[in-house]
Amino acid sequence: MMCCLVLMGNVLVAQEPVLDLSAAEIRQLMQFKRVPLPADPGNRWADNAAAAALGQKLFFSTRFSANGEIGCVTCHQPALGFADGRERAVGLAEGERHTPSLWDTAFNRWFFWDGRADSLWSQALQPFENPREMGLNRNRVVLLLHQSDPLRHAYEAIFGALPDLSDVRRFPRDAMPMPNQAGHPWAAAWGGMSESDRDLINGIFANIGKAIAAYERTLIAPTNGFDRFLTALATDPAHATTQMPPAAVRGARLFVGKGRCNLCHVGSQFSDGTFHQTGVPARDGSFPRDAGRYAGVSLLLADPFNSAGRYSDDRQGERAQSLAFLQRRADSWGQFKTPNLRQSAQHPPYMHGGQLPDLAAVVRFYNTLEGRVNNGHHVDPLLVPLGLTPAEEADLVAFLASLSVPPPRDNPWFRPPSPEPSRKETREK
Ligand code: HEC
Ligand code: HEC
Repeated sequence: MMCCLVLMGNVLVAQEPVLDLSAAEIRQLMQFKRVPLPADPGNRWADNAAAAALGQKLFFSTRFSANGEIGCVTCHQPALGFADGRERAVGLAEGERHTPSLWDTAFNRWFFWDGRADSLWSQALQPFENPREMGLNRNRVVLLLHQSDPLRHAYEAIFGALPDLSDVRRFPRDAMPMPNQAGHPWAAAWGGMSESDRDLINGIFANIGKAIAAYERTLIAPTNGFDRFLTALATDPAHATTQMPPAAVRGARLFVGKGRCNLCHVGSQFSDGTFHQTGVPARDGSFPRDAGRYAGVSLLLADPFNSAGRYSDDRQGERAQSLAFLQRRADSWGQFKTPNLRQSAQHPPYMHGGQLPDLAAVVRFYNTLEGRVNNGHHVDPLLVPLGLTPAEEADLVAFLASLSVPPPRDNPWFRPPSPEPSRKETREK
């Protein structure tokens, strides 16, 4: 094909000669083809629609926070790619890390930048008890659910009847384990509960996480221009390049070629699912103190809600068994999880500390590695200066942009739940 005009959206654009992608390049690009969402055997309710509906209510509610103003949605806003647009998250106080997007989060193997959770449902429990995020404790969360008629009914329809929690001597209003603050009144109250009552609270708390996870499984990134490009490559190659701007096609080739991005950003979610030390500098130039994966491993192994723990529905499964081999290694200091790049244009800034303001800055960093923090032998050997020209940098950015599309407005999971029908409406139906 020589030069021509093609229709993109509803605009006619001049098409450059089609890039002749080699068979090897096409094979590499095909590795990004979407795959179905994997099952989550650790959560028996992962694909239960009623659990997802309850999870949606919990996700968008702000009542489960110390000041009644903060919920998951505060930091994971639908209009901001289920992130918050900030460098570092702000709940009750400013946190230490950047809020990741929740698009496609259910595809992850590990959760948080440091992988300190190994299931989506156990991840969801931590913000409730994080003093900088929602600042509550598990007893209070469970009691708040118990006190709300609609939430209690929804819960009981899925998980079975809640026990009587009214005896405050057995179930103190505020209690949770706090290994590093044994003197805290909440820790003392937790220590004063019987083993079986603690187990009861933990079980309900875990179910709350499982409902939220069922909801989060609906946050699947919509089909983007690159997905359509791949489909066309497989079915109608001559028209593949009409699905993406030429710059993005050139960028795709760089992504798996000179840019070496697919050494880590690979597979349908553009992530190898593991951890690397990119050495991205702190914004103020100070030496980074975040241990990342090094600390995450210890936290995960100590977490009673991990995949091998008694609240998992798959305690003998693959994830549970792999915990036995997990070790804290010196070279994991400063490693962070490779993020998914679908929808990333929707949620600047980037990296675990929100250090880089836009995609152009990310690509420039990889190209030059300027300012990279080199703490001795830990920096990832896969990263080398790339020698990309400014035009090639722009092409890579165009490719990254092609992975993002505005989410469809008509998907009811991508917005707050519709209010409960009032009694009157229910009767009229
Ligand atoms: C104050 C802001 C804030 C609130 C509130 C909050 N989050 Fe987050 N979320 C973050 C930050 C920051 C991280 C990354 C923290 C880290 O890696 O240490 C994160 C990480 C996550 C992740 C992991 C994503 C991944 O790819 O690893 C999920 C899932 C998530 N949050 C869901 C939730 C849910 C569900 C709630 C409510 C129960 C919630 N968040 C409440 C800021 C927040
Ligand atoms: C050695 C593995 C590796 C390679 C190679 C690599 N990345 Fe990354 N990428 C990561 C990791 C790990 C992070 C998170 C780093 C952090 O937060 O410190 C990341 C973060 C990003 C982000 C930020 C996403 C977000 O949500 O914050 C973008 C965009 C990105 N990479 C694009 C690229 C591009 C484009 C290339 C090729 C030029 C590339 N990466 C090469 C591992 C890699």
